[in-house]
Amino acid sequence: MSDTIESALHENRHFPPPADFVANARLKPEEAEALYRKAEEDHEGFWCDLAREKITWHREFSVGLDDSQAPHYAWFTDGRMNVSYNCIDRHLDTRGDKPAIIFEGENGDTRTYTYRDLYHEVGKLANGLRASGVRKGDRVVIYMPMIAEAVIAMQACARIGAVHSVVFGGFSADALRDRIDNSGAEVMITADGGTRGGRVVSLKKTADKALDICSGTVRKVIVCKRAGNEVNMTEGRDVWWQDLVADQPVDCEPEWVESEHPLFLLYTSGSTGKPKGIQHASAGYLLNTIITNEWVFDLHDEDIFWCTADVGWITGHSYVAYGPLAVGATQVVYEGVPTVPDGGRWWQMCQAHGVTVFYTAPTAIRALMKLGDEIPAEYDLSKLRLLGTVGEPINPEAWMWYYRTIGGERCPIVDTWWQTETGAHMIAPLPSVTTLTPGSCTRPLPGIVADVVNEEGESLGPDQGGFLVIKKPWPSMLRTVWQDDHRYKSTYWPKFDGKYYLAGDSARRDPDGNFWIMGRIDDVLNVSGHRLGTMEIESALVAHEAVAEAAVVGRPHDVKGEAIVAFVILKGERPTGAAAEEMVKALREWVSEHIGPIAKPDDIRFADGLPKTRSGKIMRRLLRSIAKGEEITSDTSTLENEAVVAQLQGKA
Ligand code: PRX
Repeated sequence: MSDTIESALHENRHFPPPADFVANARLKPEEAEALYRKAEEDHEGFWCDLAREKITWHREFSVGLDDSQAPHYAWFTDGRMNVSYNCIDRHLDTRGDKPAIIFEGENGDTRTYTYRDLYHEVGKLANGLRASGVRKGDRVVIYMPMIAEAVIAMQACARIGAVHSVVFGGFSADALRDRIDNSGAEVMITADGGTRGGRVVSLKKTADKALDICSGTVRKVIVCKRAGNEVNMTEGRDVWWQDLVADQPVDCEPEWVESEHPLFLLYTSGSTGKPKGIQHASAGYLLNTIITNEWVFDLHDEDIFWCTADVGWITGHSYVAYGPLAVGATQVVYEGVPTVPDGGRWWQMCQAHGVTVFYTAPTAIRALMKLGDEIPAEYDLSKLRLLGTVGEPINPEAWMWYYRTIGGERCPIVDTWWQTETGAHMIAPLPSVTTLTPGSCTRPLPGIVADVVNEEGESLGPDQGGFLVIKKPWPSMLRTVWQDDHRYKSTYWPKFDGKYYLAGDSARRDPDGNFWIMGRIDDVLNVSGHRLGTMEIESALVAHEAVAEAAVVGRPHDVKGEAIVAFVILKGERPTGAAAEEMVKALREWVSEHIGPIAKPDDIRFADGLPKTRSGKIMRRLLRSIAKGEEITSDTSTLENEAVVAQLQGKA
């Protein structure tokens, strides 16, 4: 992280919005200015006006913000609406035949769904869910490949007021079990398998494993036939999606839910304990996804939008499954990885589908940058007009490569800071207004009151690092941690008299007022733009029979952002040579099985003990230095067991 801060401090390149971009933008500079002014004068009124304008209501609301239960904030409480209706039905008259989703499989199969097709597919599945006894408020776990049916499944849940909980298809049976049990889901939607990286991932097999070990709430499993791999179907419990919907009518009356009705849970890592089920509401969430697709992505009717995120993450919720549909856009959905059959796949797809607005993560940009400029140069990327990034700070070198090689020095780059908890972009450029600086996510959006403060909650001056906070509630904020209000309060509102939302990131502002994200303040790693709690990985490691103790820290990595380094104490002798290599292999596999391949430690070191203070606290700062290979200059004599430092450094 320190590299990012260091380079950022010297960054003085500025990129004002191109004139032709401004001329055609949805949001003109003077309109943006008016929005900022209005938000400052009347925060609640600002959001109410937008909610009336952007959402199609079944029953209008009269209450804007209800803060009587703070820090549980509620928005537009007496209104009724349906998210799926807003994403599909309201476009049928004007955009019924417009492509909503252009799907491409890794193997190259494609299928286009118009808004009317989506209406039919979502309606049939929603009816199938209702026929299976799913009612408003019931939880449905979705464990799918990145195929159009994943979006259809989410929309079908929204249509009938069921609360979906999407689990990333790369997660293991254990991780899936935790999420099923915590959500108390009765129904699961999965697929036989999906294709990623040239091989079939057998999702149903993993789902079966999870169902074998979970507490048994799931009574129905709907299986989409996709990869054609062989699966076991359990009589009475499992049904093929294609069979379930075969006789269902296409029309499905939406469930008109209250604004605050939970739309979904999405589990995310914290510094301690099990992943937390971030709970989002319906109307407020929808509102922020709509305005950010309009303001930040500047989506016009003619645009072809492509967000490369999987629906297993929040980005795939707000910028694949909901936001782009709510604004009536056409978007690309791709099943596979960017390197099959070669590193030109994404650029080839941009060319083939005429992508105009492209959104991805810095880790992917860095990985593709490494493959060289010749690959993107083979493709016609001239239709691109706007690029975006999300997930972690983008280093200026990667920013410049993205700008020049992919964007042809023509496309503004929107570096969007936000979180699972915030639901939508919070700090991000308005591409028709903001002068860009590589590495900075620039300014808070209208209506978002972000600040950098010290321990006492006082605003800090230019270039002073502190806590990133949001000082006023916003519609798409998380409502709580599923069935754990205490965790909601203690994680997000622990300081500043419970008045400011604590994002968990440290940040600074430069003299121009641009925000620079510096890193996490808790024990959360950001690996390839995905949040992983160090404690989750430690728990997985100590669950192995040979392991006595483990500590996990991050180390800067030039593609993934952070690499995972695990310090492990075994129950027996400290292994060396081939025995150590064997054990490293076994433990990496173990973590992969227990959490998922993304959590596999990059580096595992063994010692006789962990460096601890005399009061028994693990010295994480020291471990981080060791992981980075830094010279240990601090005094280690206060350590209870000084000798282990040399072992962990590989010197003894
Ligand atoms: O640390 C910040 C980083 O990702 C965290 C949120 O992770 P998650 O909930 O998984 O959502 C990722 C996609 C929204 C933040 O607390 N982060 C996200 N976007 C940026 C970022 N750090 C720097 N710059 C960004 N643009």
